[in-house]
Amino acid sequence: GPELFQPSRQNSRGRDLTDRPTLAMLDAERGAFRDTTWTAAPILAEGEGTGPTRPLTEPATGAPVGQVTEADAATVARAIEQARPWDAPLSDRAAILRKAADLYEANEGEVLAIVAREAGKTLADAVGELREAVDFLRYYAAEAERTQPEAGNGLWACISPWNFPLAIFTGQIAAALVMGNAVLAKPAPQTPLIAARAVRWLHEAGVPRTALQLLPGGAETGAALTSDPRLSGVAFTGSTATAQRIRQAMAAVPGRPLIAETGGINAMVVDSTALPEQAVRDIVTGAFRSAGQRCSALRCLYLQEEVAEPVLEMLRGAMAELRPGNPWDLSTDLGPVIDTQARDTILSHVQKARAEGRVIAEVPVPTSGTFVAPTVIRVPGIEAIEREVFGPVLHVATYKAADLDRVLDAINATGMGLTFGFHSRIDDRVQQVVDRVKAGNLYINRNQIGAVVGSQPFGGEGLSGTGPKAGGPHYLPRFGVLRRETHPG
Ligand code: NAD
Ligand code: ALA
Repeated sequence: GPELFQPSRQNSRGRDLTDRPTLAMLDAERGAFRDTTWTAAPILAEGEGTGPTRPLTEPATGAPVGQVTEADAATVARAIEQARPWDAPLSDRAAILRKAADLYEANEGEVLAIVAREAGKTLADAVGELREAVDFLRYYAAEAERTQPEAGNGLWACISPWNFPLAIFTGQIAAALVMGNAVLAKPAPQTPLIAARAVRWLHEAGVPRTALQLLPGGAETGAALTSDPRLSGVAFTGSTATAQRIRQAMAAVPGRPLIAETGGINAMVVDSTALPEQAVRDIVTGAFRSAGQRCSALRCLYLQEEVAEPVLEMLRGAMAELRPGNPWDLSTDLGPVIDTQARDTILSHVQKARAEGRVIAEVPVPTSGTFVAPTVIRVPGIEAIEREVFGPVLHVATYKAADLDRVLDAINATGMGLTFGFHSRIDDRVQQVVDRVKAGNLYINRNQIGAVVGSQPFGGEGLSGTGPKAGGPHYLPRFGVLRRETHPG
């Protein structure tokens, strides 16, 4: 109902990248950090952490970006001992998070540079990243003030993925902190640099060091953290397999909340009444924007057979317009994938399809760096896709009009349910589809990525997440330790 909206809050306006002076300004701001290197290390309430140190490089070029010292088990234990819930009044907590949002924005050039160089994000994606991060900070601050929840007073681990290294990292932390908890934040091992800068800005804004500590590291650091019985809960975003491991690690003390937002094998269905130009634009955006490295990205396209060939022909034409390259170049609209391991996993999937003669479209990419060609693979149906392929790879199947329900059932049968898209101009059919598909976020006649904080709460069903949705009104109550309901999923 209307009471769920926040009339006084506005999302960030973002940046208009079609405006030349804006583009030149951003390029100059970012350019000041072209050769900077950064370091990330554990940020504890007191003292220094220990652990192995390793260099970090740009995925597109292999150039150095900095180095990280990862937190060993002793450092994780020290952080847990030093953590204290944030007992300032709610109005102070909210004001400090808003101040942190202002600091993020004041450091726009550095943010855009780090996420371009560490995570391989294009300027458009980097701008979106900053925008979503500040929206989360201001949204959860406003949401807490609107609902005046009882403080959580617990100890939360926030574990995030590399594909939204500032936005998701910040969103989890902001929610836990505004609820009065202490946070131990573990960023993804690929993207600790932006996380370390973000924690500095949060501390500078006034978040006490005992309430927010940073533990860089990978699976080992994460496992040391999530197996600790003193944790009150875990907020996790990443793969379904990791979420299942964390659930097992937390089982020693039953009843503690795990908020997990995980992957999907997301589908779009395009029927014969759809506008082909619009569908193709949304297919390209959903499948290839961010090099397909969004949990929300389109993975399996179903085309009604009457329109399949013309739509595919138009899709090939649109793909030929894509400009893969170094994310630092303003003309680039498709960057590399995150690292060589990711590239090799995706390429082995493509290689198998190629050997079977199922690759039907491809765009050339630079041969150096961790680029993967945007690729279209023909499949008989979604059931032929064994797992989420986290890159610019689109699978395409055709269907007969009479089989629409069967297609929707096959999509549901993946057991995942994150995003779903439908292109059609028949209202009854749209309703039929909406009623049948089990997915967290459904999009009609548009692309299926880029959910907006506060207006499109984001999260999946089934193996795609435990709910409640991020950026929506049901998220904050989960961070209250007194509410110990567990999710059946
Ligand atoms: P991942 O599961 O490999 O890693 C996610 C985080 O978990 C990282 O910080 C990692 O270090 C940590 N981790 C790994 N093993 C752990 C363990 N045993 N214990 C504790 N922590 C551990 O995922 P990724 O490759 O970083 O991210 C890509 C995945 O994230 C994709 O599956 C994507 O769909 C999903 N994702 C989901 C959403 C969403 O909102 N639903 C958003 C973004 C990404
Ligand atoms: N919230 C991100 C999107 O919708 C993952 O694309």
